[in-house]
Amino acid sequence: MKFPTALLALATSLLASSISASDFSLVGFAKENPIGATTGGSSPSNSNTTVSTPAQLIAAVEGDTSLIIYLAPVTFTLTARLKVGSNKSLIGTGSKTTITGAGINIKSVSNVIVRNLGIRFILGNDGITIQNSTRVWIDHNEFESDITGGPDKYDGQCDIVRASDWITVSWNYFHDHWKSSLMGNSDSNRDEDQGHLHVTYHHNYWRNEGTRGPAGRFGHQHIFNNLYEDYLYQAIHSRSDNQVLVEGNVFLGNTSEALSTYGLVIPMDSPNTSPDGDYELDGFANLGAKNDWGTAGINITQKGNFTEAPYAYSLTSLSQVQSVVKAGVGLGKI
Ligand SMILES: *[C@@H]1O[C@H](CO)[C@@H](O)[C@H](O)[C@H]1NC(C)=O
Ligand SMILES: *[C@@H]1O[C@H](CO)[C@@H](O)[C@H](O)[C@H]1NC(C)=O
Ligand SMILES: *[C@@H]1O[C@H](CO)[C@@H](O)[C@H](O)[C@H]1NC(C)=O
Ligand SMILES: *[C@@H]1O[C@H](CO)[C@@H](O)[C@H](O)[C@H]1NC(C)=O
Ligand SMILES: *[C@@H]1O[C@H](CO)[C@@H](O)[C@H](O)[C@H]1NC(C)=O
Ligand SMILES: *[C@@H]1O[C@H](CO)[C@@H](O)[C@H](O)[C@H]1NC(C)=O
Repeated sequence: MKFPTALLALATSLLASSISASDFSLVGFAKENPIGATTGGSSPSNSNTTVSTPAQLIAAVEGDTSLIIYLAPVTFTLTARLKVGSNKSLIGTGSKTTITGAGINIKSVSNVIVRNLGIRFILGNDGITIQNSTRVWIDHNEFESDITGGPDKYDGQCDIVRASDWITVSWNYFHDHWKSSLMGNSDSNRDEDQGHLHVTYHHNYWRNEGTRGPAGRFGHQHIFNNLYEDYLYQAIHSRSDNQVLVEGNVFLGNTSEALSTYGLVIPMDSPNTSPDGDYELDGFANLGAKNDWGTAGINITQKGNFTEAPYAYSLTSLSQVQSVVKAGVGLGKI
């Protein structure tokens, strides 16, 4: 009887370790794409610096030289947007690094990694704006504000615009915010955006949010293994010929619409020019592995041809998404 008992213990411990130790390495479009994997500041020099004041941070992110920037576990109160150069990694220390006052611009650059930062209560603009930039990995951050001021008190948490491409957004905790993450900031930007905006969203936790979880125009987004809790109005919205591949996501609590390809931009997603909302062309959606929609509705008006992600990834089983995502997201986990 000893042998089976030992075997059972071994099997149990293997199972436990496979649940607790999530793989936090880079997956998706920021890793496998036609122009090269995102390495941030780690290649080729691996040189690094630690900053603990806004002035040091602003100086460290300048220019294209490869650099890993560790941010001390303090609050950086910025008075203007932080303009990050190419080939940079920004990595918070422990679980207390906060960016507030003004957010982060990743504009007209390439190869940037942002990990383990608390990005909080950014008024007047997005928490992070990725604009005309390629190869970006946004991982293990926490984005928060408050939802009580309606859709226009704050802007986006992480917006990706102007032909940006080859991006992964993973293991972030987005909470208490209205408009979370928009790809393509106008339906009139077709010529610029079409064929770009390839973004992977995986293992993010969205809680008490309004709309745009995410919303996309003209691009391709692979949205897998995310956890949505009280995503009040509309979570995934694919419009203006955008394509999404949606699989293995879990919706909990009060969500009215988990996924829509209907081109109506609902009034709760403001700004609208009409009280009934604005209309643009519908998007496309394909479903991969089973999702758990909870009580939320879905409205897929047309299926597209984005049926398969062009890279390797492993799916967390649907029954484990809630525990794995809650345990893995946000600060102090890497
Ligand atoms: C940071 O750079 C120093 C040399 O300046 C090096 O000794 C150290 O290993 C580097 N640390 C990391 C985590 O890359
Ligand atoms: C986009 O970024 C590139 C640098 O990567 C720059 O040369 C170009 O002028 C930028 N375009 C716009 C419209 O800002
Ligand atoms: C930094 O970025 C630029 C522009 O993306 C690139 O051409 C250059 O090779 C990079 N330099 C290093 C040292 O990685
Ligand atoms: C769900 O959230 C919406 C928007 O806040 C609210 O109007 C509705 O009453 C909520 N429903 C439940 C069952 O809590
Ligand atoms: C779903 O989309 C159709 C358009 O195909 C639209 O007529 C309908 O009102 C939508 N339903 C909801 C609940 O938005
Ligand atoms: C995929 O579908 C889009 C939208 O209908 C279309 O523009 C595109 O040409 C299609 N791509 C392929 C490879 O069939």
